[in-house]
Amino acid sequence: MKIELSDNKVFFEKQGSKKEIHPFWLRERVNSKEFLDQKTQQRLFDPTMLSNNTEITKLKMSEEFLEVTFKDGAHAKLIIENILKEFEKDNELYFINKISWDSNFKIINKFKFSHNFFEEKKMYESLLDFYKYGFVIFEDVPTQNNFIVNFANSIGSIRPTNFGEYFNVKSKPNPNDLAYTSLPLAPHTDNPYRKPVPCIQILHCIENEVNGGQSTLVDGLAVTEELKKNYPDYYKILTEIKVRFQFIDQNVVLEDWAEMIKLDENNRFKQVRFSPRLDFVPLMEKEKLELYYSARNKISEMYNSEKFRIEFKLKPGDLLMMDNHRLLHGRTEYNANEGNRFLQGCYIDYDSTDGKLKHLKRKFNI
Ligand SMILES: [Fe+2]
Repeated sequence: MKIELSDNKVFFEKQGSKKEIHPFWLRERVNSKEFLDQKTQQRLFDPTMLSNNTEITKLKMSEEFLEVTFKDGAHAKLIIENILKEFEKDNELYFINKISWDSNFKIINKFKFSHNFFEEKKMYESLLDFYKYGFVIFEDVPTQNNFIVNFANSIGSIRPTNFGEYFNVKSKPNPNDLAYTSLPLAPHTDNPYRKPVPCIQILHCIENEVNGGQSTLVDGLAVTEELKKNYPDYYKILTEIKVRFQFIDQNVVLEDWAEMIKLDENNRFKQVRFSPRLDFVPLMEKEKLELYYSARNKISEMYNSEKFRIEFKLKPGDLLMMDNHRLLHGRTEYNANEGNRFLQGCYIDYDSTDGKLKHLKRKFNI
């Protein structure tokens, strides 16, 4: 992959095929200070106001830079590596390989919280682990009430839902959700009925005096990989059929139609949704439904099997940040008479973690 120059034209060569880069594509990227605000990297001109018959009058290339002068006098000094990245549609976050895991996973992704943590290199490392494993645990996070709001807003912006800006997880009378009882919670993803589904859930343990009430996590990516390998028909139907997820309470009716396993435009894993108390399969021919139910039973069996589940106890000050598009979470039963169990939770979206990670990468020049 390389850039070549010929007759005042710039070519991009990849795997033997050579194509001209449109001069206007380069013109849009002029970066001298009269055209680009050096601080915000925002354009000081509107490219839609320019004619796209731009002509290049001068070209110069060194190992590192491509310099282009245009007929209207504008000048660009572009880093060649950055041009190549744009052709690869290279997002800095794609370099992080997701590592799927099962019950053998040892929780190595723990970080001690400290003052000014959000601007430290440790924060960058913890976000890398979050993208690798789908979760990360912070320890010694101050247990003062509502600190979770500070925490979330120090990474990005909190994402409010109908449960509020944040929510308290403790057994309460007349609960509107099973999360607010002391019953066990089977592995599930949160809010599959929302558009969009909140990306990341944060749970902060304030008190935990009970013996049970262990937190459980399952890697939806690992289960999807195994389902695809061993049960391709089940994988296929769960990635194709959109089901209706629904949440109803006194003040709101929320609904969305989505696949239980969502793939991206390149047919790679994107998201899982699983909440068998809230999903409604559409009416289809009997044979197809037969296959669908078998597939759903199988994936449920896998999500609930010990093979994929890790179990651990959150202690006061622990804060679990998990990918709600990738992991399933749950908890074991506990006896509310043994003492207090009090967690606070909230959601943030990927733009918060993406933005923070890229900022810290830039800051520490990594
Ligand atoms: Fe949940």
